[in-house]
Amino acid sequence: MIGKKLLDEFNAQINEEAFSAYLYLSMSAWFESVNLPGFASWMAAQSREENDHAMKFFSHILERGGKVSLEAIARPTPEWKTPLEAFEAALAHEKHITGRINGLMDLAIAEKDHASASFLRWFVDEQVEEEASTDAVVQKLLLTKNAPGALFMIDRELAARN
Ligand code: FEO
Repeated sequence: MIGKKLLDEFNAQINEEAFSAYLYLSMSAWFESVNLPGFASWMAAQSREENDHAMKFFSHILERGGKVSLEAIARPTPEWKTPLEAFEAALAHEKHITGRINGLMDLAIAEKDHASASFLRWFVDEQVEEEASTDAVVQKLLLTKNAPGALFMIDRELAARN
């Protein structure tokens, strides 16, 4: 059985991951609206991954005999000034999520909940990957300074993500 404090935080994390999915779906829609389908497809794939993250917490709570409690998902920002601004917002969001995951791990260790600590290890590793892949796009966009030719090249590259 999962402790009350960790259960509440895991339920809050379902909401964090669901909001992440919503935020990236909003970014995907915005990229479509500015005719960058590769960026849009990358963000749609990212959004699907976030839904998977939410479901991992959902399943873990149920497997541990806890009660899932779903809250309202906040409205994400609908538009950004430039692709760089959108990706910088995505990177800032991933850093926030990394902080959340580290906090959950601290709590699992403090509560001596070894099963939850083992479950969270996947997320600790995943956040390294999430920040790196988002930052890689930020760095490319910083180099191009939103020059149209370079943007279209990055768009084609990002379209290659499943
Ligand atoms: Fe589920 Fe991108 O962190």
